[in-house]
Amino acid sequence: MKAIELKQVSKTYGQGVSQVQALKDVNFAAATGELNLVVGPSGSGKSTFLTIAGGLQTPTRGQVLIDGQDTAKLSAKQRDRLRLERLGFVLQAYNLLPYLTVRQQFELVDRVKKDNLSAAALQALLRDLGIEQLQDKYPDQLSGGQNQRVAIARALYANPAIVLADEPTAALDSQRVQVVGQIFKDLAVKHHKAVVVVTHDQRLTHFADHCYQIEDGQMSQLA
Ligand SMILES: Nc1ncnc2c1ncn2[C@@H]1O[C@H](COP(=O)(O)OP(=O)(O)OP(=O)(O)O)[C@@H](O)[C@H]1O
Ligand SMILES: [Mg+2]
Repeated sequence: MKAIELKQVSKTYGQGVSQVQALKDVNFAAATGELNLVVGPSGSGKSTFLTIAGGLQTPTRGQVLIDGQDTAKLSAKQRDRLRLERLGFVLQAYNLLPYLTVRQQFELVDRVKKDNLSAAALQALLRDLGIEQLQDKYPDQLSGGQNQRVAIARALYANPAIVLADEPTAALDSQRVQVVGQIFKDLAVKHHKAVVVVTHDQRLTHFADHCYQIEDGQMSQLA
């Protein structure tokens, strides 16, 4: 069974003359144990695709299945629960809470969800990402790249079965890009997650099991 599947998905924003068709008949599937990369230029529909795949917004047409369940057939409450228990998001705007320290961002996850990483596993992740010294800092005391790595750690802390990441390396230097690429690859291969990364960062392509291209809302498979 596929972890995520999109069937003939289209998304139109706006009305009349200001209408934008952000996705056109997209078919896509992500399996457990694989890192799927979707590359495309700015405005091509990457964030639209990822937020629809994760049930954060609904398509105009077509079906989105998560763990084989048609998300349109779930109640709002069931959808929220599915997202909370199965999905981890690294969004383009990092969505860290400004009034919480790095440490408290993780404590907040503990309040809403059980079965998160152990304290030791979290510290190992923070070490790999090079942010273990920053745990008492607030987001506005961190650089863009540091915030980006905290956002990655927070998504992975919840130990989700499906990881969806939007431009997770945009603010990182080349060395960190390789570290983050390897973390996503390990999540898929060693920890049996389904991982979907959308990006315009060509430095990630060699980590991918499958590579897709998106252009003007149309997706095609490259490899
Ligand atoms: N809420 C919205 N309302 C209207 N148009 C939107 C909305 N969100 C996105 N769009 C439009 O849909 C198209 C795809 O946008 P999207 O954000 O998915 O692109 P993207 O590939 O993620 O771009 P970037 O690389 O800059 O993040 C663009 O033309 C954008 O202007
Ligand atoms: Mg985007």
